[in-house]
Amino acid sequence: MTLTRTAKFRAIFRAALLLICALALTVPLISAQKERAPAQKDESVYAELAKAPKKAVARRNPMEHDPEAVAAGGKLFDLHCAECHGETAEGGRKAPSLRAREVQQATPGTLFWILTNGVVRRGMPVWSKLPEPQRWQIVTYLKSLGPAEKSSQ
Ligand code: HEC
Repeated sequence: MTLTRTAKFRAIFRAALLLICALALTVPLISAQKERAPAQKDESVYAELAKAPKKAVARRNPMEHDPEAVAAGGKLFDLHCAECHGETAEGGRKAPSLRAREVQQATPGTLFWILTNGVVRRGMPVWSKLPEPQRWQIVTYLKSLGPAEKSSQ
């Protein structure tokens, strides 16, 4: 009797040991995969701009070249964007420069689309709660800055 009981214990012990070994093997594998995931997405910080749908890209800025829109957009920028993109829009600790060629050459419609949709998974918030005219004012302001060769990013 005692013998069979020990045999049973041994069987259970072995099964448990196998399970622990299996876990010990798979856990690092899973976490290694997780770590690798962001590296695979190693695309440019501006890659999202190229993903705007054609219709959005072609949208016209109703406030293009409006000096009042530039001023209003500047205020909105200080309020909502400077925290991450820096006071001069040349980039900060949290977000890239908006005076890079990729952003400055993007159409107003593309920038409007980015503001409306954000790039949430990469830390750029959605601004669809700002009324459309305010979003266009920000776009007008960004466009008024022009490209800056020197940027902190
Ligand atoms: C909480 C920080 C944060 C705030 C606030 C923020 N952004 Fe961003 N923004 C980011 C990050 C991070 C990226 C880079 C996203 C990526 O890697 O694609 C980004 C990217 C962008 C881009 C480039 C699009 C692209 O391809 O990623 C534009 C244009 C932009 N932001 C405009 C703005 C404007 C305008 C505001 C204010 C209304 C603003 N952002 C507020 C964090 C922020």
